[in-house]
Amino acid sequence: MKIRKAEPRDIKNTYLLFADQTIRLKSKKSAIIKFEDHETWFNERILYDNFFILEEEHGDFIGQIRIDKKNNENIISIGLVEHYRNKGYGFKSIKECLQLINEVEIVAYIKSSNVASIRLFRKLNFVKTSVSERGGDGLERHVLFRKISQKCKESR
Ligand SMILES: CC(C)(COP(=O)(O)OP(=O)(O)OC[C@H]1O[C@@H](n2cnc3c(N)ncnc32)[C@H](O)[C@@H]1OP(=O)(O)O)[C@@H](O)C(=O)NCCC(=O)NCCS
Repeated sequence: MKIRKAEPRDIKNTYLLFADQTIRLKSKKSAIIKFEDHETWFNERILYDNFFILEEEHGDFIGQIRIDKKNNENIISIGLVEHYRNKGYGFKSIKECLQLINEVEIVAYIKSSNVASIRLFRKLNFVKTSVSERGGDGLERHVLFRKISQKCKESR
């Protein structure tokens, strides 16, 4: 598996990934995404550093990881093509990404029903810090995990 920065050529694979219903149901915003909206979002996102693509050595697209800065938080998100799930790629790729970035705290918001994701982030030593309701609709709960990156721990 290789990890590299996202590039313009990744627009289609990332769209197909985000449009996948199994991903939409696990995301904060579950509504269907139009390609034009993805295009605008994608072209803006790749200007930032922390947008990573995971792929096989032969170039097959595995998924994406992003660490977005929002409201003073570094929010990590991950999505893998269905065929590549539950094979250790999530664990391995996030571990590698955390070595590539310098942020002290990384936060993951996960639906409490997303067992695979919760197990993954626990295994990565993220700790549950709070549970909140989503946007006032009271239907979906998200769990917050935090991690102090190894680099920063070592420099203390
Ligand atoms: C969540 C996701 C990133 C996990 O990555 P992954 O590569 O499938 O996970 P891994 O194979 O590295 O496994 C990590 C842990 O999760 C567990 N796990 C993986 N898939 C699971 C599933 N479907 N049900 C229960 N546990 C699961 C693994 O057993 C492992 O735990 P263990 O070592 O204690 O057994 C991936 O399944 C995915 O892309 N899902 C859809 C999108 C999504 O939910 N993104 C996260 C939003 S916060």
